[in-house]
Parts: sequence; C-alpha cells; structure tokens
Amino acid sequence: MKLSARLSALAGASALVLGAFAGAAPAATAAPTGTAAVTPPDIPVANVKQHLADLQSIATANGGNRAHGRSGYKASIDFVKAKLDAAGYTTAIQQFSYNGSTGYNLIADWPGGDPNQVVMSGSHLDSVTSGPGINDNGSGSAAILENALAVSRAQLQPTKHLRFAWWGAEELGLVGSKYYVNNTPSTERSKIKAYLNFDMIGSPNPGYFVYDDDPTIEQTFKTYYAGLGIPTEIETEGDGRSDHAPFKNAGVPVGGLFSGADYTKTSAQAQKWGGTAGQAFDRCYHSSCDTTANINDTALDRNSDAIAYAIWNLSSGSTTPPAGTVFENTADVAIPDNGVAVTSSVTVTGVSGNAPSTLQVGVDIVHTWIGDLVVDLVAPDGSVYNLHNRTGSGTDNINQTYTVNASTEVANGTWKLRVQDKASADTGYISGFKLTFP
Ligand code: TRP
Ligand code: ZN
Ligand code: CA
Repeated sequence: MKLSARLSALAGASALVLGAFAGAAPAATAAPTGTAAVTPPDIPVANVKQHLADLQSIATANGGNRAHGRSGYKASIDFVKAKLDAAGYTTAIQQFSYNGSTGYNLIADWPGGDPNQVVMSGSHLDSVTSGPGINDNGSGSAAILENALAVSRAQLQPTKHLRFAWWGAEELGLVGSKYYVNNTPSTERSKIKAYLNFDMIGSPNPGYFVYDDDPTIEQTFKTYYAGLGIPTEIETEGDGRSDHAPFKNAGVPVGGLFSGADYTKTSAQAQKWGGTAGQAFDRCYHSSCDTTANINDTALDRNSDAIAYAIWNLSSGSTTPPAGTVFENTADVAIPDNGVAVTSSVTVTGVSGNAPSTLQVGVDIVHTWIGDLVVDLVAPDGSVYNLHNRTGSGTDNINQTYTVNASTEVANGTWKLRVQDKASADTGYISGFKLTFP
C-alpha cells in the first residue's frame, strides 16, 4: 500500500514556468513554451538613469556617499518614498539601530492582489562610505523604483500582491534585510511566494548572471534573456552576499540578477557578452568612482526590462501546471459500513491562482453496493462538490473520472475525496484518488 501522494507530469507539457513542479522531470532546464507569458511594458532606461542622476546629486550634496548613518542615506530614502507615495503606493519606513546610528528600510505595497501570495522585489539603497554607490546599488534601487512606477502607470491589478523594498545597511552585513526578515512574523513571511533581489545590475563591464535559487524564478529570468538571445550564467560571485540571503535562510523562494562586481571577466565571457576580458566587471566596486559614469546603459536597460518581465509574470497567476499534471493518492482507505465519512487527500503545490473549470477528479472505490455511498470532493477551503449520491443501487465499484468546475477554488492546498457509507451490509475501500489538471 502506497501511502505517499504522488505527482507526475505527463508528456506534452506546456506551461510558462515548469520549475515549480519539483519532481516533474526536467524542471529547471525545461524550455517553457511561453504560451501563457504576460507582456510587460518597456521600462524606459532614461527614467532609470534619471533616478541614478538624482541619487548621485544626493551623494554629492551629502559628503559624497549615501552610507548607513550618514545624511545621504536618509535623503535617498526620502527621495524614493516621495515618488512611491505620489504613485499610489502604501509606504512604510522601518527603523532599526546599528553601529549607534538609526537605519531605515523602506517598504512599499501596491494595493490589491491576493494578500496570501506576495511577490516582493528588493534592493539595498545604502552605499559604502567611500563613494556614491551608483552601480552598487543605485542600479538595483533605481530599476525597482522605475518598475514600481511602471506598475502604477499601468494600474496593474495582478493576481498576487506586489511589494517593493529598499534596504538599509546592506554594506555592513545585510543588516536591514535581516531586520525585516527577523521582525516579520513567520505567518506573514510564508505569504512571500517570491523574493527577487537586485544588487549591481548596471556594471560597466557587465556580465549577465542569474541567481541559481528557486527554479521558477530562475527560469523566468532565463526565459526573458533567451528571448533576447543573450546567454546568461549562474551567479557565483559569492552566494549569500546580498539581501536575498536572509529570505532564503527563512525558507522564502528567492532569485535575482547581477552584472558582476570585483571578479574578472574571462575571455570566454567577453566573447559572448562583449566588454573587456581580464578586467573586473566593476572596477569601481566600493570606491569613489562608482558614479553615474560607472554604468553600462545596455545592461541597466536589459536588467530593468527583465525585472518587469519577472514581476508581471510571477504575479499574474497565469502560470499553469504542465497539461496533464496528476496529483494522486493511491493509498487504500477502508470505508466503514454504515459509518463515519473517511477521506483520501492529495496536496497540490506550485500552481498559481485558481483550479481549472474542467478539473478531472479520478475516483477509484472498491465496494459491493455503490447505492450506499455518498462521495464528495472537498476543496482546500472546505467547499464541497458532490460527485455521487447513493445512485447505482447494487452496482459494484466506482471507477470514474468526474469533471468539476473548480474555478472558484485556489488550486494549491490539500484536496480531499470524502466517502461515507450510509447503509449497512456492504463495505469497501477507497483505492485511488487523483486530480488531473487539463
Ligand atoms: N553588495 C554586494 C557585496 O558587496 C555585491 C555583490 C558581490 C553581490 N557579490 C554578489 C551581489 C553576488 C549579489 C550577488 O557583497
Ligand atoms: Zn551591493
Ligand atoms: Ca454499507
């Protein structure tokens, strides 16, 4: 008797993102067909560059940096917050204390979307003390700011809830993002279905690196770059060196983009991406020359658009499991004669949004008088769909697939087949229960 629920994806799979289906054979490497892809707007790189020019001016007016505990940091926070407030975001400044100075995170929520499914994008807004920090990390900060403004311009109403964050004191050890994660109750934290991190995405001698973490997020970025015909590599310049690390450690699915810091571009990398081999991706990393002159506009443009692609697609709820994906429980469950209801369960995971209108419910019950039986499908929220109600009199066994319009039910969660025998003498057992996504 097999006790575990089983997930198998059948051939002919077609879905935007396959990575969520851990256990489905080719998960991370499968090429999505993209049939369900959402087209985001172009993110104007000129706007992103204007934000960088503004951050540069803030640094220049505040002793040349935007570091934790310095006036340039708080001015950066106020600058970003004002733009988001004007665009209709609900913003909050979270204060913390580090090294004897007050630090600030800025959290911005776009109203609407499923509060239980949050897609969050973050970038650290602080620089080191030695420079204005325009690539590290004005670039990520400006790109997510312009993406947030693009969400507002589009008045986007995605299935999931969108949140943006600008972190303080990353350069002193991921202080702000750790503070946020540690001070977010685990029930709230578990609602964050994706945390996307952007730290250094306009490096002057750029590489195109994708974080190798959550397969769905990783595949989303890879799909975007594949569409541009630009090869990517897995980010290896120090995993855990940015604000995604505390999220990852707390079990939140993470991903992100990176254009390189102080590592040297190889000749193979220069061949595929252009730029200068034998030189750092960012020669001004953590130094005073990390100014607006330290940005590659093409990398900044592509990464800003890649962020939009990820935000629009990961929040849309349009991702579906590969056609024919089966969630199945083949454990036998005895049905007591004229007794209490019993259930067999399957847990659906990795499916965004609601269940289909043609959910296939496979029922396999061995019984000697099906006229005794009431059989229901119970959705994760407890909604009941009756499948069989004491018809068939003395017929043996139910071996049937029912089509259920489950489109008002959230797909993810535990679904039950509930069976009750309501008359004495004949007995049997549930022998199989499966949900097939069409
Ligand atoms: N601010 C980061 C740091 O100094 C930059 C960085 C280095 C980075 N390696 C990285 C960011 C890898 C993301 C991924 O630590
Ligand atoms: Zn950084
Ligand atoms: Ca009976």
